[in-house]
Amino acid sequence: MTNSNVSATFQDAGALYDFMGHAPLDYDLHENVSLVNLGYWNGLNSFAKGHLSLSNRALFQLVCKNAGLSKNDEIVTDIGCGFGDVAIICVKDFNCPNVIGINISQFQIDKSMEKVAQMNLQHRIAIKNMSATDLQFADNSINKMISTEAAFHFDSRVDFFREAFRTLKPGGILSLADMVYNQPRSVLEKIILPPLQDGLYIPSANIYGFDEYILKIMEAGFEILDAKNITSFVRPYFRKWAFSHPVNLVLNRKISWIFSTIGFLVYPWEYIYLVAKKP
Ligand SMILES: C[S@@+](CC[C@H](N)C(=O)[O-])C[C@H]1O[C@@H](n2cnc3c(N)ncnc32)[C@H](O)[C@@H]1O
Repeated sequence: MTNSNVSATFQDAGALYDFMGHAPLDYDLHENVSLVNLGYWNGLNSFAKGHLSLSNRALFQLVCKNAGLSKNDEIVTDIGCGFGDVAIICVKDFNCPNVIGINISQFQIDKSMEKVAQMNLQHRIAIKNMSATDLQFADNSINKMISTEAAFHFDSRVDFFREAFRTLKPGGILSLADMVYNQPRSVLEKIILPPLQDGLYIPSANIYGFDEYILKIMEAGFEILDAKNITSFVRPYFRKWAFSHPVNLVLNRKISWIFSTIGFLVYPWEYIYLVAKKP
């Protein structure tokens, strides 16, 4: 669902991921993992630092652990669920009884459902076509909500915070990992940002720093339990991995899209995690 004129190239972020198809950043060590995030590289050994999939897994674990997931969480939702890997981790590693992954990329939804069926987990994992900004869940119905590297796409992120607050139960937890795009601070950044927003579907309403991010979550009604800038555990390692795997970055891409997103490696985005509670 689009509120504003975010991208001339893509009608919404789902169209971007449909376009990326099954050649996202990489296939790595795990046969059935398609990688669509930048990873959390803290504490990984030198072997693991060569593999995006292991840092992806570490990021998933971080967000799930921050949410304090357990078998007592009757309904867990993963917002912007990629290829369904986090939903599977919630069930297999954290024993969550019911997980609903939502996404607006039909391609990723189909692949996630195939994966869930192959693992025979359909009775515990549902994958739905639904936007983060228009959650089709009842008020006060969700125990835990997680979202990994997706909220920067939502149009807008604040609308998602409002929906998260409405649908979480009192005492419910929202656990996020997200990219933060500050306002441009130099002429070069001013030039880079618009094509980057177009190519990566980043609404202008989401261009603000981490302090403002925290304020906006609090304005939605949440209490902040933990918030950390983890850029130094993501950005340098991802860049190193990216430059040593140039083919992965251009595989199956349109040239115009590559040019618009080259600024991604240059723009000083930051990476954060945040854990918030609905009082
Ligand atoms: C960078 S990928 C991250 C995927 C996954 N969470 C992960 O970490 O591997 C962003 C995801 O958010 C989804 N997404 C973007 N906008 C969305 C929206 N408004 N509602 C639901 N999902 C959305 C995309 O389709 C994609 O699956």
